[in-house]
Parts: sequence; structure tokens; C-alpha cells
Amino acid sequence: MSDGARPRVFVSRRIPDEGLDPVLAACDADVWDGELPPPRDELLRRIAGCDGVLALLTDRVDDEFLDAAGPQLKVVANFAVGFDNIDVAACARRGVAVGNTPGVLTETTADLAFALLMAAARRVAEGSRYVRDGKWKTWGPLLLLGPDVHGSTLGIVGFGRIGQAMAKRAQGFGMRILYHDVQEVPEDVAASLGATYLPLEKLLADSDFVSLHVNLSPVTRHLINAESLAWMKPTAVLINTSRGPVVDQAALAAALTDGTIWAAALDVTDPEPIPMDDPLVGLDNCLIVPHIASASRATRGKMAAMAAANLLAGVRDEPLPTPVVPG
Ligand code: DGY
Repeated sequence: MSDGARPRVFVSRRIPDEGLDPVLAACDADVWDGELPPPRDELLRRIAGCDGVLALLTDRVDDEFLDAAGPQLKVVANFAVGFDNIDVAACARRGVAVGNTPGVLTETTADLAFALLMAAARRVAEGSRYVRDGKWKTWGPLLLLGPDVHGSTLGIVGFGRIGQAMAKRAQGFGMRILYHDVQEVPEDVAASLGATYLPLEKLLADSDFVSLHVNLSPVTRHLINAESLAWMKPTAVLINTSRGPVVDQAALAAALTDGTIWAAALDVTDPEPIPMDDPLVGLDNCLIVPHIASASRATRGKMAAMAAANLLAGVRDEPLPTPVVPG
């Protein structure tokens, strides 16, 4: 950026005005207007010479991306709390700051995780299909039965902000709450949420519902696999609002087909979108929605504002409000 010139930035999708307006006001901004992400070659072409990029979780930020952008690149502001699409170490090596959007989507994401739990248990999507398919002939004593949510046991895997917000919702339903994480939370936090720590195997064996809230990392990739699914109850429901690759999808499809577990509800898949010929798509006991956990109008507005604030701080050589610290 030459002295006095407006910073050049690329925004890889149209985002809510709360974020777009400040960026347009302060920068020479190129905004990708397509509904789909920019194709890779187009992305690499458009970021060349930029001082900052406002990226989405659909954009892979790696050495190739950083080479294409050039050495003047100062910041990549992710429009997401998760940043598994970004090679943070590669950015750090080149002095490129990385920002994300923590906190603002915690409650909204937990809302959807709980909605999926309820919907899978009470077979809401199946019930809706049943009506639309003209199958509803009478009230049926055995029609679309499922487990009770109230009074059941919820196992939360990953007990950070969103996992704890899920626990708060479960308290309202009188659920017994178990959690697993790499570290136990302080006793007062566990006590206020009524949550008990268990090793993963024991948590999976004891839970009626298992909700995943871990970051995607080499350690959590396929954390839920054929072996861990076999630890779960045959009546159990698995909910995933974290990242698709945390679950081995082929193993999940097999477990849902052979009755190893009863149902699953997924906001995230591997890959995204899930291919229509993936066996999970055809299973009545697998509810899938298109990665919408943070998709409330208010939350997406806050995420946009936060990503913009990171972008603008980065291009101005200021500390990012919410930086991702290289691990
Ligand atoms: C995130 O922010 O990481 C979600 O997956 C999308 O909101």
C-alpha cells in the first residue's frame, strides 16, 4: 500500500452490511459476488497484491495462497470462529496476522446444536416428510416414537464456550450432563453447569445424546470412528456442529445402518456439501443441515463486523481485536 493510498483488500463473499460497509468505506475492496466461493485459480488471481483478505471457511489459506497474494499481505480475517482452513503457522512465518470471530456465535451455535438434538430425538424432519408424502392417515400409538430428551444423559465432547452453552440448555431440560475435553474445567465451572468429567470411552458408553464441540485438529480428526461408535448405546443420538472430519462418515453410516447407534444429526459433513450419493444422505435416521449453526441474522452481522474489524486493524498495522495465536 503506497503512502496515503487506500488499502487493497479482497472479500471472498458478500457478507452482511455490518462488516461490508466499514470495509467499503476504508478500502479499495474487491468483493466476490458469487453465491459459490471463487474458484481456486480466480481466488489466487484476485488476491494478488492485496494488503488484506477477508476469507471464509471455504477458502484454503496455505503457502500457495500466500505466494499468490505476495509479500505485502498483512492480514487474513476469517469470517468464522473455526480456522482449520488456514495454515496459521505458514501465515506466522510470513508475518501475516490471522483473525477469527470467537464469542459472538457461541449461543447461536448452541441453539442449533440443541435444536438438532430435539429434532433427531423427536423425529421432526421424518415427521414432516411423512406428512408431505401423504402418509398421515390417523393418530398412531406407535407412530414415529423416539426417546425422551428431558431427564436423559447428554455427553458433551469439547467443553469450551459452545460446549458449555450446550450444557446450559441441557440444564433446562433436567438432563444429566457429562463432558470430556483434553483438560477438566475448573470445579466451580463444572459445578455451575452440573457437569461431570468422564474419559471419552465412559462418556460415550453412558450418554443418550452425544454432542461434539471440539476444534478440528490432527488429534480430533475421526475422533468418532468405528471403535468409538461401538462404545455408544444402541439407542444413542450423535450431534455434530463442530467440523465434519471429526466424524468418520463411512463408519457413521455403517453404525446407523446396523443399529450400533440410533440416530445422528449433522450440521457439518466431510466434504461440504455432502455428495448426494453419500450413504448418509439416504438414511431416515440421519438428519443433515447445511452448516447453518451460526446462521441467525444478528450473529452473522456480528461475525461480519468482527471480521471487518480484524481486517481493518491488520491493514493499518494495528493489533487485531481477535487474533488467532499460532499454536
Ligand atoms: C465457524 O464460525 O467456525 C462456523 O463453523 C461457521 O459459523
